[in-house]
Amino acid sequence: MKHFQKSELLDRMPTQFFASLVQKVGKVVAEGHDVINLGQGNPDQPTPEHIVRSLQKAVENPVHHKYSPFRGNDFFKEAIAAFYKREYNVTIDPKTEVAVLFGGKAGLVEIPQCLLNEGDTVLVPDPGYPDYWSGVALAKAEMEYMPLEEVYHFLPNYEAIDESVLDKAKLMFLNYPNNPTGAVATPEFFEETVELAEKYDICVVHDFAYGAIGFEGKKPISFLQTPGAKEVGIEIYTLSKTYNMAGWRVGFAVGNPSVIEAVNLLQDHMYVSIFGAVQEAAADALLESQKCVDDLVELYAERREVLISGLREIGWEVSAPEGSFFAWLKVPQKYTSTEFADKLLSEAHVVVAPGVGFGSHGEGYVRVGLLTSTERLKEAVRRIQKLDIF
Ligand SMILES: Cc1ncc(COP(=O)(O)O)c(C=O)c1O
Repeated sequence: MKHFQKSELLDRMPTQFFASLVQKVGKVVAEGHDVINLGQGNPDQPTPEHIVRSLQKAVENPVHHKYSPFRGNDFFKEAIAAFYKREYNVTIDPKTEVAVLFGGKAGLVEIPQCLLNEGDTVLVPDPGYPDYWSGVALAKAEMEYMPLEEVYHFLPNYEAIDESVLDKAKLMFLNYPNNPTGAVATPEFFEETVELAEKYDICVVHDFAYGAIGFEGKKPISFLQTPGAKEVGIEIYTLSKTYNMAGWRVGFAVGNPSVIEAVNLLQDHMYVSIFGAVQEAAADALLESQKCVDDLVELYAERREVLISGLREIGWEVSAPEGSFFAWLKVPQKYTSTEFADKLLSEAHVVVAPGVGFGSHGEGYVRVGLLTSTERLKEAVRRIQKLDIF
């Protein structure tokens, strides 16, 4: 069999840190153990029924059997604008300020290719969601890391970034509620971000994937609520987490029209937009009752309480996340994050994600997903209690 060489571009792609974790987990499962997997970020609940029904109905409409409009259906973009107005009191022009995406991931990976040239600089959070790195690699751009540290509530400390780095940076990724740390942004932090972006001509891409998930009654804020935000950036939203629609691949970018145009232009060349029936169901998800979202947040809040109080009871001093469905737990000092995750897997059959997989500043932490029942979370705590970890 002939073996064809990969392109140099593909060779630039970052290695998938978590692929080795998946392999290790597979081995333990194959040995027949009952594994509690808290290492992934895949929502465990089904899509709310009214959204599924909406798709079923829409699929019968022959209009959707044709190519959909290249840049998405107007009804979906209008629903997105109405959603932003209702939820955040942000005014969005559906014609020029919305790009329909095949999930948030697609937009995040596309953006660097839309705005950057080879060798340009991008600011990325460390720890951060690894897909930012993939988009940067595809654009042949360079990354500068912004450490997210507990002392600064896992918000980047802009004062610590070298002036020369800010001068050359063209793009910045932010993500609040944050994966992996569970931190949320404050209005002051976003104001500081707009100021910085204006001063240094940086385009801000705020990944709002966990926008719906805030705890203790606090609704996470949209970057676009900040005065001047639309001048300097965009926000990427996905229906994956808010409505348990991860498999549907539907999301959108909203904000600065020049960035939205660039995303649409790239997509004109790469795709025809999402299946119209999916857009119809997604529009219904955004426009109809949001009780399903309230119920989901309540479910995650209950799981968060069970996990955090359970771990504290067994003597592990952990902080509770303020948003997202992840807990970011400091590992006992004698372990690296990988050693600790390996120990939990081999001795307790509990999977957690080692923090270092999200960047070097993730060392010393593990990420735990609230994506299984309270019973299984309690069982995970019981198993961890039996280990000699402190
Ligand atoms: C921080 C963050 N951004 C974006 C995404 C992308 O979600 P999707 O591509 O399903 O919209 C995820 C999914 O895990 C995420 O954790």
